[in-house]
Amino acid sequence: MPVEPSSTPVILTGDRTTGPLHLGHYAGSLRNRVALQHDHRQYLLLADAQALTDNAHDPGRVARNVIEVATDYLAVGIDPALTTICVQSALPALAELTLLYLNFVTVARLERNPTIKDEIQARGFGRDIPAGFLCYPAAQAADITAFRATLVPVGEDQAPLIEQTNEIVRRLNRQVAGTLGHDLLPEARALIPEVGRLPGVDGRAKMSKSGGNAVPLSASDAEINASVQRMYTDPGHLRASDPGRVEGNVVFTYLDAFDPDPEAVAALKAEYRRGGLGDAALKRRLEGVLRDLLGPIRERRAVLARDPDFVMDVLRTGTGRARTVTAATWDAVQDALGLFRLA
Ligand code: TRP
Repeated sequence: MPVEPSSTPVILTGDRTTGPLHLGHYAGSLRNRVALQHDHRQYLLLADAQALTDNAHDPGRVARNVIEVATDYLAVGIDPALTTICVQSALPALAELTLLYLNFVTVARLERNPTIKDEIQARGFGRDIPAGFLCYPAAQAADITAFRATLVPVGEDQAPLIEQTNEIVRRLNRQVAGTLGHDLLPEARALIPEVGRLPGVDGRAKMSKSGGNAVPLSASDAEINASVQRMYTDPGHLRASDPGRVEGNVVFTYLDAFDPDPEAVAALKAEYRRGGLGDAALKRRLEGVLRDLLGPIRERRAVLARDPDFVMDVLRTGTGRARTVTAATWDAVQDALGLFRLA
């Protein structure tokens, strides 16, 4: 059964299920996804199989966090009536496509992938790189193409994975061009947020749970307070009356990312630069902004946590829908390539 390319933009994105999501995820992609779900066909993948590529020693953690991340999605406003939320390991077509795609990439190309190179460094694998980890770009290509996604909203660090996906897509399309007459799979485009990555509360470039500098979406008011108090401002700004620096000031970076009133933030910046705005007052403002943002998310999270059957039901329905879509793609790929089909 040939599947014709559709004109509605299809979005696929996902998260490794290694821990609950935090403010960095919110600024970098979650709020985009909430906005995009209204006029796109959107799929969210709970990437538990990918999470195992560097967590095989702790599969329990990966499994537990499937529900945690799904709960985060629902708490921030992902609507299961608009977005299909699905579980990677429960979609056999993804594994089937991965196994095929591994024949369309070289080990050298995988080793050159800048994302993989950075992540291997960061994880300190040395020479002991799990093969599944080195090869996960082929699996991510399977994720993206199985849904025929054309838009992939991700952080900048993921761009090389989309590029490698498109290389596989072009190879396959070229190979079947003569017989098929149209593209077998669409190429995908990374949708990278304009605002840069949200730094950690300690000012380090990346917010991460393992780095101990993250604000989880479930943070209590006390945790919000502690995080904001830790934040680095301008070390030269000793008295409220001193002129202060706004660039590189983590509190302002967060206000830029989350304050619903950018004009008020611009006025605060002017006052800070001039001298006269103290760090304590500045931090109070951010604390209020984060409480207003995270309070309702935390409450929805608490309601969902009391109803695990509801969350499981969302995953069952979404994964069922995703199974149909991804199996159709695997079918079309088998046909186009002329793979053996057991009659
Ligand atoms: N690699 C992504 C991350 O680490 C997670 C992911 C898995 C993903 N499959 C995907 C993202 C497909 C976009 C599309 O966050």
